[in-house]
Amino acid sequence: MTGDLIMGSSTNSQKNILILYYSYSSQTKNLLQAMINGMDSHPVSVVLQRIEPVVPQHFPFGSIPKTFWKMILTFFRQRVPVKPLPEQCFQHYDLVILAGPTWSYHPSGPVLALFDRDGERLFKDQQVVPLISCRGYWRMHWWGLKALLNKCGATVPNLIVFSHPSKEPWRTVGVFLKLAGKVPERMPWMKKHYRKYGHTRAQLTEARNFGEQLAEVLIKDGDMSSINFKTVPVLYSKS
Ligand SMILES: Cc1cc2nc3c(=O)[nH]c(=O)nc-3n(C[C@H](O)[C@H](O)[C@H](O)COP(=O)(O)O)c2cc1C
Repeated sequence: MTGDLIMGSSTNSQKNILILYYSYSSQTKNLLQAMINGMDSHPVSVVLQRIEPVVPQHFPFGSIPKTFWKMILTFFRQRVPVKPLPEQCFQHYDLVILAGPTWSYHPSGPVLALFDRDGERLFKDQQVVPLISCRGYWRMHWWGLKALLNKCGATVPNLIVFSHPSKEPWRTVGVFLKLAGKVPERMPWMKKHYRKYGHTRAQLTEARNFGEQLAEVLIKDGDMSSINFKTVPVLYSKS
């Protein structure tokens, strides 16, 4: 899933969805792929567009000091300049899904840079459902994102959040080590508590169901706020 993908061809009766996303370590990308699979059997046309930094952001950051420094910069909402989007992103859509990770309690740097440059042109008079992938601390991100979208003139009827299903404090330590380029799943003192970085298969199945529900409601001209996107993170077992 690189650049963009168009699924189905647009006809008058069809609903058009734009999915705009940034993904640093592929977690958002995997969830979206599952969601799109769920939409597959419905008459919706999907434009999938990656938000691409001007300077490629390689995963992982590579060391503990670099990761720590990035956490500080992102806490202060550091922007990561992004490449221009194709013109088709600026059309009107029946639904826009804006997806990406939480970075230090905020939207990621590329998403913030996109808002600065194109926010109003992209989101004015659009119905936007954000999708957040995070280790578990997303509320400030959500409030900030909703405020930004409202300021641009969007309506935000609902929200989808996926958290990493590991227990604390291992989840936070595991994400930090992973971002630093370590392999916490194999560290003797971690592996009992931390099975895997990121989302589970069960969550991908959930994402697929959400994709189906979104498409169903959209084609019936239903209310997006009626969908229950409450996810149930099943924690990894120790075995
Ligand atoms: C710089 C940085 C800061 C992060 N800060 C948070 C945070 O404040 N809260 C949280 O729940 N997750 C945080 N995370 C974890 C990511 O949100 C999480 O790993 C997410 O699933 C990554 O999605 P992606 O692979 O699509 O980028 C942070 C990750 C990075 C790289």
